Amino acid sequence: DLTPAQINRVLAHSYALKQQSLPWLEPQGTRPKDAKLRLPPQSLFNKTIALLFSKRSTRTRLAAETSSVLLGGRALFLGREDIQLGVNESPRDTARVIGGMCQGIFARVGEHAEIEELAKYSPVPVLNALSSYWHPTQILADLLTLHEHRHLFDPKTPQAPAGLLPPLPPLTVAYVGDSANVLHDMLVTYPRLGHKLQVASPEKYRAPPAVWDRVVELECDKGIMWTADPKEAVHNADVVITDTWISMGQEAEKEERLKAFEGYQVTEKLCKEGGAKPNWQFLHCLPRKSHEVDDEVFFGPRSLVYPEADNRKWTIMALFDLLFGKWNLNEGVAPG
Ligand code: CP
Ligand code: NVA
Repeated sequence: DLTPAQINRVLAHSYALKQQSLPWLEPQGTRPKDAKLRLPPQSLFNKTIALLFSKRSTRTRLAAETSSVLLGGRALFLGREDIQLGVNESPRDTARVIGGMCQGIFARVGEHAEIEELAKYSPVPVLNALSSYWHPTQILADLLTLHEHRHLFDPKTPQAPAGLLPPLPPLTVAYVGDSANVLHDMLVTYPRLGHKLQVASPEKYRAPPAVWDRVVELECDKGIMWTADPKEAVHNADVVITDTWISMGQEAEKEERLKAFEGYQVTEKLCKEGGAKPNWQFLHCLPRKSHEVDDEVFFGPRSLVYPEADNRKWTIMALFDLLFGKWNLNEGVAPG
């Protein structure tokens, strides 16, 4: 739902929060003597954020809980087994009741319609922590990671003034694998930011109509090349990205999916034969299985997966500060 200006604003804010918060997190003995200690904004002071998670999570939950602490507030984890939602209570009642006691809802749901329903009836802002269609906070972390590693794509990219988000040259981004929530947010984001997206997914697993309608509505379709051939997708790529072939809730389809995605594993061989750029880099949202990417790539020098996981925290912290702390996602965004 964010405009490109808002996305860039959130990224710049994430980068600033990271620079300002990291010295606080160093053990005192190892902290550089001249480290400037500036407390992050305490916009969640005396506030509680509800983490309404009906599916498992490591990164998203950790990012939400740890960044709430740094913003001076508290995150309250409400798992599927903990509350009445889905068993004895509707999303409508749940949204209203949580909104009466908390100042924001970060929700990980099954069907996307569930989060639409929560957002419709919540008196406080609702942020998507993953749904069947979308995973928006993941793409913000991916983008922050690409900005920080921009010199790998273009060593001539000018230096940004200290503390400011380094600029990112236009990239060719390849995605090879399942057309699931992570890819869907890439589809509505990368073309709007001037990057080219090349996707390889088996015909049967193309993005569902509701997702593709949004892609067209945002005029992103013109910036996307879609093929069933992984080699075609990685051609000339600066970045290669994949996700699990078996998303949460699809465990019963495992055998069928492993068969359908044969030949889609990201490997050095695939990217060499397909003609990816010599210095291509690799991203994966995690959790990872070796089906979709082999160990050589995942643990190798091209892989940015752990900095990417770390950046879930700073991007979610920026969103929590702006959306739940200040209720103003437009802070610092130029009109238009
Ligand atoms: N990438 C991601 O969303 O991971 P978790 O499921 O562990 O939160
Ligand atoms: N597509 C994956 C993403 C996990 C972060 C899933 O939905 O399980």
